[in-house]
Amino acid sequence: MRQLRIVLWIAVAVGLASIAGAYFVVKNQALPPSPIGGAFAMTDNTGKPVTEKDFLGKATAYFFGFTHCPEVCPTSLFDMTQRLAALGPEADKLNVVFVTVDPERDTPAVMTEYLKMFDPRIRALTGTQEQTDAMVKAFRVYYKREPKDADGNYNVDHTASIFVMDATGRYVTLIDYHESEPNAVRKLKRAINS
Ligand code: NI
Repeated sequence: MRQLRIVLWIAVAVGLASIAGAYFVVKNQALPPSPIGGAFAMTDNTGKPVTEKDFLGKATAYFFGFTHCPEVCPTSLFDMTQRLAALGPEADKLNVVFVTVDPERDTPAVMTEYLKMFDPRIRALTGTQEQTDAMVKAFRVYYKREPKDADGNYNVDHTASIFVMDATGRYVTLIDYHESEPNAVRKLKRAINS
């Protein structure tokens, strides 16, 4: 009898523990800690200091790269130009932000000049090395500056994905460098409407 009671108490304890566990899981799904993104302080291409708060209220697509990039960055910014066109009026609910991982060369003036090749709604951010590294870390971006060649030029290897956040700054999805255009536009719409 006593043994049965102990077994029953254990069963009750296990039952309560699993309910508590399930509640904990559900609660944490409802309030996920943002895995990508967060606070940053940078300077935009007009020379104005900006933080993540300046981009709230609209969905935002962040892309990290550098203006001397031979292929991935111009291709991605050209793709984003096409996607803004594909979104039509909905594009007004989206920020597109190019963040340099090469602050030594990418001053606001250099970035403003570079952006002339793309949709005029695309903005660019630069910062000190410390500000850049903090933002890169928050977004879990990878970049590696290669050694300078004889002419003083260098390449910067970097993450090619586009990070899509909703209007509250919460991470929604990634757009891969090789994403199909219909998928990319669908993902941007999802962020705009979430
Ligand atoms: Ni690039």
